[in-house]
Amino acid sequence: MHLYTGKLAVLYPGQGDKVPYQQLAERLVVPLRDSSVAGFDQHELFFLSWREGCLKLLDKELLKKGGLVVDIEPRHGEQRSWPAPKQGALAQALGRKTKTVVDATTGWGQDSLHIFRMGYELICIERSPIMSELLADGFQRLAQVDWMQNLHLQPPQLLSGNAITLLANLNTPPDCIYLDPMFPPKRKKSALAKKSMTILRDLLGDDHDKELLFSSAIAACGKRVVVKSPDYAEPLGGKPTESFQGKLMRYDVYFK
Ligand SMILES: C[S@@+](CC[C@H](N)C(=O)[O-])C[C@H]1O[C@@H](n2cnc3c(N)ncnc32)[C@H](O)[C@@H]1O
Repeated sequence: MHLYTGKLAVLYPGQGDKVPYQQLAERLVVPLRDSSVAGFDQHELFFLSWREGCLKLLDKELLKKGGLVVDIEPRHGEQRSWPAPKQGALAQALGRKTKTVVDATTGWGQDSLHIFRMGYELICIERSPIMSELLADGFQRLAQVDWMQNLHLQPPQLLSGNAITLLANLNTPPDCIYLDPMFPPKRKKSALAKKSMTILRDLLGDDHDKELLFSSAIAACGKRVVVKSPDYAEPLGGKPTESFQGKLMRYDVYFK
């Protein structure tokens, strides 16, 4: 039985070129459903589909409302320029002398894109094949935007697979390895949790091997590992060298 059996399907809207949908379903080894056929949503909990030119992740609630995409626009409060100033808790945690970063837990790519926009050289790693497909779609869209083209920039490189093994095979140790694994929630259902993060948790579950990921990161980094952690969680690697506080979270920094 495949990993996503009964959980995920690719959703074809019933019109337009079917081939990309078929190929995506084949790559992920999941069924292809047709949303123009009644009762298509009886079987799976999650769907992937292209809507408005973006690959979107949907659950039953989002089927009618739209869907979640890798958002390539700067988050609220982030600068639009490139390179954006290296300011704020994330930049402080990455370190003043850091040039190269590997984000080993890319997820929706929001931290990665922030790091990329601040001008760091970035490699992204993601082990969920679903999230990798969404990221690849987002990075392709990023490559097309005016400022990227005008500045002759390429989107970050995306490696699909488990960072625990991929980090050990990097050609050059990056100055910094950034980790934001999934921690168990404080309460069962937090009203504050963003839909994008609750859907990720429902789809993938917690990252139970984060201690091992931390050890691999320490072994593979050039200078430091930064762990983003909810403020209620114990530091992943024991007492950090330094910590930077954000809103309801902190960045724990470990020097090699
Ligand atoms: C909390 S999310 C990261 C969110 C991300 N920082 C953002 O800004 O969107 C954690 C992600 O890390 C990925 N992940 C966890 N452990 C991993 C590992 N060992 N290798 C690669 N990806 C991993 C999970 O699949 C999940 O997509």
